[in-house]
Amino acid sequence: MDGATALHQLVDTSNRLVSRRIFFDEDIFREEIRRIYARSWLFVGHESQIPEPGDYITNYMGEDPVIMVRDRAGAVRVFLNSCRHRGMKVCRNDFGNTKTFVCVFHGWSYSTDGKLAGVPYQKEAYGKRLDTEKWGLLEVPKVTSYGGFVFANWDAGAPSLDDWLGNAKYYLDITMERPLGGVTFLKGTQRYRATSNWKLMAENFAGDSYHLPYSHGSVYRLNIRQISPVTYTSAPALHTVTADNGHCFTSIAFENERFEADMNEAREYTEEVRAYLEKCRARLVERLGEDRANIYALGFGNIFPNLAFNNFSALRPMGFYQAHPKAPHEIEMWQWCAIDRDAPEAVKEMVRVDFTRTQAASGIAAQDDAENFEQVTEATRGVIGQTLDFNYQMGLEAPGEPHPLHPGRVAPYFSENNQMNFYTRWAEMMAEPAAEVVQ
Ligand code: FES
Ligand SMILES: [Fe+2]
Repeated sequence: MDGATALHQLVDTSNRLVSRRIFFDEDIFREEIRRIYARSWLFVGHESQIPEPGDYITNYMGEDPVIMVRDRAGAVRVFLNSCRHRGMKVCRNDFGNTKTFVCVFHGWSYSTDGKLAGVPYQKEAYGKRLDTEKWGLLEVPKVTSYGGFVFANWDAGAPSLDDWLGNAKYYLDITMERPLGGVTFLKGTQRYRATSNWKLMAENFAGDSYHLPYSHGSVYRLNIRQISPVTYTSAPALHTVTADNGHCFTSIAFENERFEADMNEAREYTEEVRAYLEKCRARLVERLGEDRANIYALGFGNIFPNLAFNNFSALRPMGFYQAHPKAPHEIEMWQWCAIDRDAPEAVKEMVRVDFTRTQAASGIAAQDDAENFEQVTEATRGVIGQTLDFNYQMGLEAPGEPHPLHPGRVAPYFSENNQMNFYTRWAEMMAEPAAEVVQ
């Protein structure tokens, strides 16, 4: 990257144009892994996935594989999933429970607090020359849990997670607090590869309400439960909210529309389901006050850089998504379905079915999106295609206003303010020095 001027040309915030180069240029990709992924608070997993000592899951931070483990003393730690001997992955499972991580290459083993605990034939092979104290797993220096969501940051000098999330927490609290038994991730991770830059997925969740009626038009015409009981056509008072530090919310309703839609739908269900919804809302009022209870469910959005989510209702899944960057034009989507542990069984079942039907790799919505991203890539990566810009001018005339009750900049539903918020933050971080990689 050759300085702020070049970045300014790639992301032109005044005219709302973004160069197609940032999605396909190998050098830019390498720089964003160093300047963004090595310095951002990245979601690594949810505490409900590792309730017991020794429980672990694996994930990625940028291109680096990591293990999130609850150590024998109960602390949540995150390590680079790479043996200190010759770099082999020390954990090759998606999740499990263990006393030690044993490397399958030569057999070094590590305890759940990362210490090098065993070296085969240590005396014969090394004598006294191996200082095992120095060769434990590399631990991510900053790990913070917020509402059970574990974020980690390789940059020891990074601001706190609180500062990083800024006013986005005001909205995220709603998802954390509404479930009576807490947000609970179902076991397992759904994964698929797509030929796409990671930012296409992130910006889609950040603010692309405009593609819904068109790309997902077939979903609306099917006689099935819709993933969002409140749509733009049923309640035109949906909004985008542009939050701090590149975080974005789309499809927010401020006037209790989402709760009312849930209650309306629940007339078809049992009294238990209706009572459950009332309790969820009452809990929000008690914990966060009436104004935030009136928001009730966030719609969809993206926490910078790549934690996307959707939740339209207490009767629908809480979906969480990470587009892991693998190459400039390749992602691996990792996605999870979360439920309220204390929801009635009928609701849990509805949630599982709806997640599978819409956002799973073979779901109706995910396939529409992946097809778009792959064809954008195909049509954009050529030498001529790379000379053009993408257009984000929707919202130039309505760049967003403060709301009298809620933080962030609030704008109409059809808007590309959030995408520009995302790319403005991207350009800022790309202009800042790369992180000193910790050791
Ligand atoms: S690479 Fe792990 S023991 Fe050699
Ligand atoms: Fe979509």
